[in-house]
Amino acid sequence: MRRDRLIYTAAERTNKMVKISPSILSADFSALREDIESVKNADYLHFDVMDGVFVPNISIGVPVLRSVRKITDMTLDVHLMITKPHRYVKAFSDAGADIIVFHVEADEPQDIFKAIAEVKACGKKVGLALKPKTPAEAIMPYISELDMVLVMTVEPGFGGQKFMADMMPKVERIRGLIDENGYDCELEVDGGVNPETARLCTEHGANVLVAGSDVFRQTDRAARIEELRGCVK
Ligand code: DX5
Ligand code: ZN
Repeated sequence: MRRDRLIYTAAERTNKMVKISPSILSADFSALREDIESVKNADYLHFDVMDGVFVPNISIGVPVLRSVRKITDMTLDVHLMITKPHRYVKAFSDAGADIIVFHVEADEPQDIFKAIAEVKACGKKVGLALKPKTPAEAIMPYISELDMVLVMTVEPGFGGQKFMADMMPKVERIRGLIDENGYDCELEVDGGVNPETARLCTEHGANVLVAGSDVFRQTDRAARIEELRGCVK
């Protein structure tokens, strides 16, 4: 189990609060306004962008984000599952993203650095995501510049998959890196999160939990979000 320091800065404490980010990939797109309204007690709203190349699926993009921005004040946590993300940073920023997360596997290192710099130049928060087969070490060249690290707990591409508990050592390792160095960085997990797996994630150091199908299948989604947020160690 990870060891915590006893004293944390205010930013570090904020970055350890458990937050819930419902993924609208599992929403009903014909009733998106109502579905977003039903999860407004969450901390962030997770917006999954897929290009059919980086992942074997196509989802939603810039025009939908622009429409979502018009109907909610929630913090929009945009997860880009696209190749060469630096090409689209400005477009997603202009469309209303608050946090822009893209994959470390999606480009060459120099262009990952370029994309990080572009997000920052747009005044937005920046995160990097790791697919299940990518080791924790892949984040090391970038982590000091990040506001968020996202550890995928399913293969990216689809909602409703089974949680990969074998990702927990990676989560714990990255939490260790963040805490030992005092980085101002959140640690998000994405895929297969439900009340049972949420507890596992927070026990291993995650503080932002993306939940798609588990939240949107509920009749009382607000209550489920509270339940998930309560899954702390
Ligand atoms: C998968 C997406 C996830 C997805 C999670 O590629 O990144 O955000 O919506 O869905 P659940 O919570 O159903 O696993
Ligand atoms: Zn996602």
